[in-house]
Amino acid sequence: MTATTARVLAGPPAAEALLASVAARAARLPTPPTLVMVRLGDDPASVSYVRGKDRKAREVGLRSTVHALPAETSQAELLALIAELNADESVNGILVQLPLPPHVNEEAVLHAIDPRKDVDGFHPVNVGELWAGRPTLTPCTPAGIMFLLSHYGLPVARQRAVIVGRSHIVGRPMAALLLNADATVTVAHSRTVDLAAVTREADLLVAAVGRPHLITPDMVKPGATVIDVGINRVLGPDRRAHLTGDVHPDVAGVAGALTPVPGGVGPMTIAQLLANTVTAAERQPT
Ligand code: GUN
Repeated sequence: MTATTARVLAGPPAAEALLASVAARAARLPTPPTLVMVRLGDDPASVSYVRGKDRKAREVGLRSTVHALPAETSQAELLALIAELNADESVNGILVQLPLPPHVNEEAVLHAIDPRKDVDGFHPVNVGELWAGRPTLTPCTPAGIMFLLSHYGLPVARQRAVIVGRSHIVGRPMAALLLNADATVTVAHSRTVDLAAVTREADLLVAAVGRPHLITPDMVKPGATVIDVGINRVLGPDRRAHLTGDVHPDVAGVAGALTPVPGGVGPMTIAQLLANTVTAAERQPT
């Protein structure tokens, strides 16, 4: 048995705190903020994520619509729908669920969304503003992690932060947000030489690579805060599929604080999406 010492950074209480502020801000607007989500095909993870976001949006007083389109939808059809949503003044936020089928150019689609309605924060205008230190609409998972850290009173400024993973959805925007918050930031990735030596430097370690249990106890500085963004479907000893993170469970014996999987970062992503939708609505003319 591993001695569990790390403080558990549970997502739900932090997400509830963020959602309470979302609901209060939404109620102050003349009309409910409106989110439109688009997904193509029936990828089970995408279906389940979009359903979760839709349900939570309604719970906190937002309007939410889902366009579930066939996997064969052409890029031109998808771009036409986005143009329609961009022009529709009753729509405040647009989210196209990723990944898209291979015949659709993801970049072309993300670039077509009006940056003011880009609640994912993936449009190059919003990415550029984030890296310039003027964040507008920021990607939901890393922004949700910043809220979680603040909710649990964990320091960021002056901390040595190491992010493992350089994706556009998590690793890169996480680096920008931590840098903007005065952390000293290193981004490691699959080509990093001696990854363990780099991660052992971290006061704050963010694992976002999608490799089950990549981060082992020997890679973690005693007392460090460890944020596990991994959501990996693996077969358990009982041969049943279950979710596990990028961080080995034994890290709980070394870290000072650790997010669980599931029930850590996941709920923050949804809450932050709804916060972004309200922010977009507050900034758009009524
Ligand atoms: N697929 C996995 N994560 C995300 C996300 O944050 N936004 C979108 N649009 N698709 C995703």
